[in-house]
Amino acid sequence: MSNPSPTKTVREWTEFGAAKLDEAGLWFGHGTDNAFDEAAELVFFAAGLRHEEAGAVYEQIVPAEQAARIADLIERRIRERVPAAYLTRRMWFAGHEFYVDERVLVPRSPIAELIEAGFSPWITSDRIHNLLDIGTGSGCIAIAAALALPNARVDASDVSLEALEVTKINIARFQLDQRVRAVQSDVFAGLGAGRYDVIVSNPPYVGDDEMTQLPQEYSREPRMALHSGVDGLDITRRILQGARTHLNDRGILVVEVGNSEIALEEAYPRVPFIWLEFERGGGGVFLLTAEQLDEYFPRK
Ligand SMILES: C[S@@+](CC[C@H](N)C(=O)[O-])C[C@H]1O[C@@H](n2cnc3c(N)ncnc32)[C@H](O)[C@@H]1O
Repeated sequence: MSNPSPTKTVREWTEFGAAKLDEAGLWFGHGTDNAFDEAAELVFFAAGLRHEEAGAVYEQIVPAEQAARIADLIERRIRERVPAAYLTRRMWFAGHEFYVDERVLVPRSPIAELIEAGFSPWITSDRIHNLLDIGTGSGCIAIAAALALPNARVDASDVSLEALEVTKINIARFQLDQRVRAVQSDVFAGLGAGRYDVIVSNPPYVGDDEMTQLPQEYSREPRMALHSGVDGLDITRRILQGARTHLNDRGILVVEVGNSEIALEEAYPRVPFIWLEFERGGGGVFLLTAEQLDEYFPRK
């Protein structure tokens, strides 16, 4: 790749990187949605800069050693079609920086917004004493929830032991060992009789057809973090069937199903799913109260 001259600024490197990424026809869906933001993350990471100081550092010259690192990252992002977060080993979620690698999905759920709002207006945050995150991956939802709800205990569960290794790295990073527990569980199977005020999940929800059409970047993520049966709803069905048993009265269930929202509505036409709206975009997240579960998916 022909690089900008060795005396380019942060801004020039970012513009150069963005042009290269754009030209390569990459997919941006893992934390950024455009070439400029993706290039900025690679440049700031390689140059050891913080995004908060962008205004102050934009016109600084990037030293040669860091410039070489930037060029290498841009080249790898293009050649390997790997999400930038797997190159930098970091991603922000609900304002917090998480460690990530190929063992976990790159955090990007719109549920971050709901967590930042302390699950308001659906439940008063001081009524949340314990919370379960099913399919925790990096632990981003569980940990962000624990940080937003300082009095809550959180179970961060996943069936993947590899993913749970990353969850544990993040639990330690945020010093939450006393309040966040990493638990191996196949949906509810490993949780015993545990009951929660909030059950939240961003489970795998991609169906067979959609799996074959995903841009190459997604093939870098664990298949089990994405795929969930023919119509993408295998895990969601199990969550719906078991949730009431593990939810306290007046509790809430929040589940992301993304594009499988339509398939879910077709599968359960009588259920009045509440579809949440997000200011920062994204959708396909439903909420059901314990009362609604009593009616449509009663405790077994
Ligand atoms: C879409 S990823 C979500 C990761 C993380 N919660 C996030 O939002 O970034 C789904 C996660 O569910 C886990 N998973 C898949 N099948 C599961 C099952 N049967 N029981 C529990 N977790 C499961 C995967 O290992 C993966 O970590």
